[in-house]
Amino acid sequence: MPFESEIGSDAPIGIFDSGFGGLTVARAIVDQLPNEDVVYLGDTARTPYGPRPIAEVRAYAIECMDRLVTHGVKALVIACNSASSAALRDARERYDVPIIEVVLPAARRAVAATRNNKVGVICTEATANSRSYNDAMAVAPHVELTTQACPRFVEFVEAGITGGDELLSAAREYLEPIQRAGCDTLILGCTHYPLLQGVISYVLGDRVTLVSSSTECAKAAYAALQRRELLHHNPREAQRLFLTTGSGDDFEGVGSRLMGGFVEDVQHIAL
Ligand code: DGL
Repeated sequence: MPFESEIGSDAPIGIFDSGFGGLTVARAIVDQLPNEDVVYLGDTARTPYGPRPIAEVRAYAIECMDRLVTHGVKALVIACNSASSAALRDARERYDVPIIEVVLPAARRAVAATRNNKVGVICTEATANSRSYNDAMAVAPHVELTTQACPRFVEFVEAGITGGDELLSAAREYLEPIQRAGCDTLILGCTHYPLLQGVISYVLGDRVTLVSSSTECAKAAYAALQRRELLHHNPREAQRLFLTTGSGDDFEGVGSRLMGGFVEDVQHIAL
């Protein structure tokens, strides 16, 4: 039985991720749609999703979305590549509100951006194993895709680490196959990775175009709401609410450090 939600342009947008990574999507949405209220849920008690079996990620994702639906959201944003790879189809069947995800928008942008038809994607193991980017790129068979899982990147971000020798050496190791394949375009196929753009760009150099699944997802959110006439047009002070399954203080601390003043009003919830 699908959940129903009061859909109106005044309703908030629901966004979730396993932890802090989806904040890069939330911030891109707030930048591109500043009049929208957002409710963000970080499932930090169960992060990371990336090393877990797809069925488990799917179950967690559905629990997060069920919770967001109770806030009367007008759209659900799966701000996590692993969860998008695992739960998109179920979500579209289960909820009546538009579901926006990260994989297809990023894949489309990469296909448009590549000059040599060699695209790389860095992501979690769950996303790599699901082959969701291979499926999304099937419309462009002339493009060769190189996939590299980078499990430690999420650990760095969740610990609030975005620089230093250890991260640089992990980045060099993870990005070597991308360089060897001659990719001129790299999809940041995990929403935690925009927070590591500095080190990724430092290793790869300016000739490799980075495509952020977070920025592309925000554009897709705009398009989905515009098509359904659900955009909130009038200028106003929009509200932001942050929920976490972990410690509210930790979320606020790390979130504020990673995202400047963006994270406030954090509440702990149990799922
Ligand atoms: N940020 C998430 C993604 O885009 C997942 C990180 C994790 O929990 O492993 O895949």
